[in-house]
Order: sequence, then C-alpha cells, then structure tokens
Amino acid sequence: MAQIFINANRSAGTINKNIYGHFAEHLGRCIYGGLANADGTPRADVIEALKGIDVPVLRWPGGCFADTYHWRDGVGPKAQRKTIVNTNWGGVTENNAFGTHEFLEVCRQLGCNPYICGNVGSGTVQEFSDWVEYCNMPGVSPMADLRRQNGGDAPFNVQYWGVGNENWGCGGNMRPEHYADLCRQYATFLRSYDNDAPLYKIACGPSNDDYRWTKVVAEQAGRYIDALSLHYYTLTLKDGDWQHKGSATEFSRCELYEALRQAMRMEEMVENHGRIMRRVCPEKKLGLVVDEWGTWFDVEPGTNPGFLYQQNTMRDALVAALTLNIFNNHCDTVVMANIAQIANVLQSMVLTEGDKLLLTPTYHVFKMYKAHQNARQLETYAETRLLDHEADGLPDVQVSASQQADGSILVTAAHIDDAASLPITVRLGGVKAAAVEGAVLTGAPAAYNTFDAPETVAPRALATTLTGDGFTAVLPPCSVAAFTVTPA
Ligand code: AHR
Repeated sequence: MAQIFINANRSAGTINKNIYGHFAEHLGRCIYGGLANADGTPRADVIEALKGIDVPVLRWPGGCFADTYHWRDGVGPKAQRKTIVNTNWGGVTENNAFGTHEFLEVCRQLGCNPYICGNVGSGTVQEFSDWVEYCNMPGVSPMADLRRQNGGDAPFNVQYWGVGNENWGCGGNMRPEHYADLCRQYATFLRSYDNDAPLYKIACGPSNDDYRWTKVVAEQAGRYIDALSLHYYTLTLKDGDWQHKGSATEFSRCELYEALRQAMRMEEMVENHGRIMRRVCPEKKLGLVVDEWGTWFDVEPGTNPGFLYQQNTMRDALVAALTLNIFNNHCDTVVMANIAQIANVLQSMVLTEGDKLLLTPTYHVFKMYKAHQNARQLETYAETRLLDHEADGLPDVQVSASQQADGSILVTAAHIDDAASLPITVRLGGVKAAAVEGAVLTGAPAAYNTFDAPETVAPRALATTLTGDGFTAVLPPCSVAAFTVTPA
C-alpha cells in the first residue's frame, strides 16, 4: 500500500502546454509516409490520429537535418524544387515536396504552433533572417512578396525559432564559446515583425549533462535569447557503443530497469541545467526547452539503419509517463519539450505501413496526460518503496498532478514494478472529491501494438473508490494510470 498526497494549496506554476510538444524531422519515414504523403500534402489519417493528443507545438525540419537545410529549396512550384541528398539520414534523395508551406499547413490542421529550427551550421545569417521575414513580414518586402507569390497571402507569424541544432555535434562541432558568439550574431538579425507575438529564440543547448556548454552559452549569449534547448535520450548502450543500443522489443529485466533509470535521470538534468541558467543569467529568465527526448533503441530488424524506425512497447510508455511527470513537476523551469519523433522515428506516436496506421503505447500516455496542458501544477508526495535486484534503488511509483480551470484535478502515476500490483490511497488536501474516474495502460514490459493487433496495449477503465478525503485504487504491475477528480 502506498499513500499519495496531493496538495491543492501549493503549486510550482502553470504547466506550459508546450511541454506536450512534438518533433518531426526529414528522417526516414517521419515526413514522407508519416505526417505527409509522397507529394508533401498532409496525410489525413495521421493528422486525424494526432488530433486525439492535442499537439500544442511541432518542431521542424530537424534535428541534424536542420543544419544542412536551405529553406528556399522547399518553397515555390514543386516541379522546380531542388532535389538534394539527406546526408545525415541514409543518404537518401530529398525532393523538397514538403517545405515551409507544407509544414505550416500540417500545423494549421493540427491546430498547433510551429517551431522552426534554422540553419546555423552551414547556412548564413542572411538566409536565416530571410526565412523569418518570409514567414512573418505582413507588409511589402522582398521575402513577403515571394511568400505571396507562393500562395501565402497572410503572414504565418511563426513565433518559435531555434538558433541551430546540436551545434556541439552534427550542427558544426563547435566549442560553446564559438557557438555563443554565433548565437548572438544570428539572434540580432532575427527580427520580430508582429509586436503582439515577438519571436521566441531558442539557442542550442547542451547534450545530457554537459554543464559547461550551458554555463558558457547562458553567460555569453543569454541576454539575446529566450531559452536554451536540452537534448537527452534514454539509451541502454552496451559498453557505451552506439552500434549496440539494444532491441526495442526483446530485452531483459536488467535492460528494462536500465532504461527506466536513465529516463529518471531527466530530473537531475532539468534541475542542474535550470540552476546554472538562473545563476549565470539572472537578468533574464531563460526557459529550458527539452526539444529532443525519448527512447533510442536499435532499428527494427530489416529496416534502413539510417531511418531510426523502432517499435514501441509498454517500456516506452513508462519512459514517457516518468518523463512527463518530471516535466510537470519542474514546470517553473521547463517551458517546452518535444519528444523525438512524431511518426515512424524513435519513440513515435504513430507507426505506419503503407495505408495502415497504429497508435503506440506512448501515444496513449500523451492522450491520458493531455489535461495537464496549461493546468496549474499541484504539489504531490508519494510514499514510495525502493525496488531491488535489477531495479535496485528505483522508486516503485512516481506521480504528478494538476488542476484545470474548471477545478477538476488530473493525477497521473507511473508504477514501474513488474512483479506486483500496488494498492494506493490518494489523499487530497485543499479540495474535496465528488467523483473520480480512473484509466490505466498496462501490459507486459515488452508488449506492443502491431498492424494486425493494434489494441494490444490500449487504455482501459480502472476501478476507484471514493474515501472521506480522496480515493483508493490498485495499480497493476507495469502501468501508467490517470485519475480525473471532479471536485465537490
Ligand atoms: O532525433 C534524431 C537525431 O538525434 C536528431 O537529428 C539530432 O538532433 C539528434 O542527435
């Protein structure tokens, strides 16, 4: 039995809806065959499925691809667009059928904000500045005129701009001092054309626990930007070797808990980078944008190694649940996060094969958690038990909670013990419950959905009982639960 306390009188702030953001790169079948058809038009069944999780923001065009991308290649009549080679991802041909207008059309259909990552590694300041002018300039100007010529009468008002991607690696192998200088220069020429929605500039931040990168960039470029990104993937590398990340579907108990342990390290990353940003750049409240996170395993056997296509199991669902709980509980630091990636790449929401589509266990977690978006985070405390053996020292359950504008409360819990159920007593402070509804996603750690059996891992109702000061329920082994409390 575990007791979970929810204190409706204390909050770390509002959970920015953008924490539930996504990422789409020109990589494998994320764009063509995923978000879009081969001709670059939105793929209707995928868009329809994604509407179910209320995507708040979508990052594009990469990833490593961003620092090789020249946006002019992807605008204008499709027959005249340049065909290029995607040098980062499989060396495949990219015909640019999906470019700026097509991306913004996907965002329009999803009802989400676009987040465009510009090319710092191999582009120019002028090229990047022109892209912003192309998207946002309302009046007469060379770029606004070009946009109109290409069918975009009204400005798109893109607010979120990334100043390069992984410039410590695929984006130019830079030292933080060099990147900080470039970032200042680029940020200077990225102009706001709509004073109601000034640009939100996101600098390339660190990989994992590279605290020096954060310190130098925040110190030297912090005044010119609004946020720093963080990339942190859940990896189970054998002997640190990227060629052996482990199978997404066939794994030992040791690998299960290794992945969950790595996922939980997100808390340490968020806390430490946040602390450095506040300390070295106190004059400006910089946000932390975790714009790449999620699991990264070996590709599905028989698929192109450069396409990063992997299956998605109940283990992935637990990683998503743990990570989103961490983000919710650190909503005073994390202003946006973008799981990698939205379709057919890494920890995806949907997988497709020809005309077929399936929803992954991770999709279901995003759906169960979606009422956290823009809600008021609530303080929680869980009386946990520390697990042993392969899970040595990991807490058995982890929670977050929030209160929506109508007063209802969402409590989400990740229960990682694969051997036993966990009865919980949830005590609510500062609010009385009139009703509570539970939902649970559960299965064997390696359970996953296939095109033939797409409902193997899907949410179902979970019984709850109201008590005087809250409710009780039983969490099955390896489960993600969501409780919606209607206040009295
Ligand atoms: O998401 C896949 C890749 O991971 C991205 O392109 C890159 O930014 C990161 O290394």
